[in-house]
Amino acid sequence: MNTSSPLAADAHFSDTWLTLREPVDHRARDAQLTHAADHWLAQRASASTAATLVDLGCGSGSNLRYLAPRLHTPQRWRLVDHDPSLLEHARSRCDTLASAAGEPIQLTVHEATLAQALDEALTGADLVTASALFDLVSAEWIDALAARCRELGCAVLFTLSVDGEIHFQDSAGKTLEDGDDRFVFDTLAAHQQRDKGAGEALGTLAPTYLKQAFLRHGYHLREAPSPWRLGRETWPLIDALIAGWRTALLEQAPAQATRIENWYRTRLSALDAGRLMLTLGHRDLLALPPDSPPGMSFDTSFETSQDRPA
Ligand SMILES: C[S@@+](CC[C@H](N)C(=O)[O-])C[C@H]1O[C@@H](n2cnc3c(N)ncnc32)[C@H](O)[C@@H]1O
Repeated sequence: MNTSSPLAADAHFSDTWLTLREPVDHRARDAQLTHAADHWLAQRASASTAATLVDLGCGSGSNLRYLAPRLHTPQRWRLVDHDPSLLEHARSRCDTLASAAGEPIQLTVHEATLAQALDEALTGADLVTASALFDLVSAEWIDALAARCRELGCAVLFTLSVDGEIHFQDSAGKTLEDGDDRFVFDTLAAHQQRDKGAGEALGTLAPTYLKQAFLRHGYHLREAPSPWRLGRETWPLIDALIAGWRTALLEQAPAQATRIENWYRTRLSALDAGRLMLTLGHRDLLALPPDSPPGMSFDTSFETSQDRPA
């Protein structure tokens, strides 16, 4: 499963779940990377032409609702997903969005799988973006995406990729982790790597794999953490998340049902009582093509030597 979704056994997600997570996602995202993407687009765009932005696995449009009003350039958006009902939600809720400069955006939706999206849907893209997607995809698909983006010379902004960091903290901020938590986190990670229809899924390995794939194509990278910090005030999201984990754990380790049910009840009641907080790690990545306008390359301290392939 997608740690950030309870409903991903087959890579289909409910609008209810995506709506629950949207405000928490928007708070968690790294604003500086959006700012840098805005700057890059402004330098690249000609004054008269709208930039083409493609949102892969757009769901009901959360990523677009975050980005469009924060980008100053005129925008032509292409939303891609394999789920027609989510695409319809996205279209109806994003139709009236405007750029940060007040210019209405243009919007088209494309019902396509991620594999199909690499050809036509990416044509002419200036910026390819996605949120909460990459744990579902395979290494081969990321390699193909990075090669295609390099061919197009576009930038990419990929946010909220789960990185496997999960922590419970008590009210004093102390991390609590016992043998059952470790069993649960390992079992969730194994469940995440199941094939979701696009090859063996990378799960929590995706953020590192993404960086390496774009570095291999000469991109300049900047990465930032974007963790969820969940407490009693985000109860409906926590409740749905932990229920989804329970389902995934029972699928992955049915012989451990008693252990899983005990863990679920104990952790859920402590969260409900406000005795625990839950931190769930994500990473955001902005990658700019090698031939970006002068002044747009990042401080290379963002690229560590182990990131750069030999
Ligand atoms: C976790 S949701 C994220 C949705 C949205 N980006 C957001 O942040 O709310 C993942 C999205 O990817 C889509 N998706 C998953 N696998 C896909 C595939 N193989 N082809 C096309 N879309 C896919 C799902 O339908 C879903 O909308």
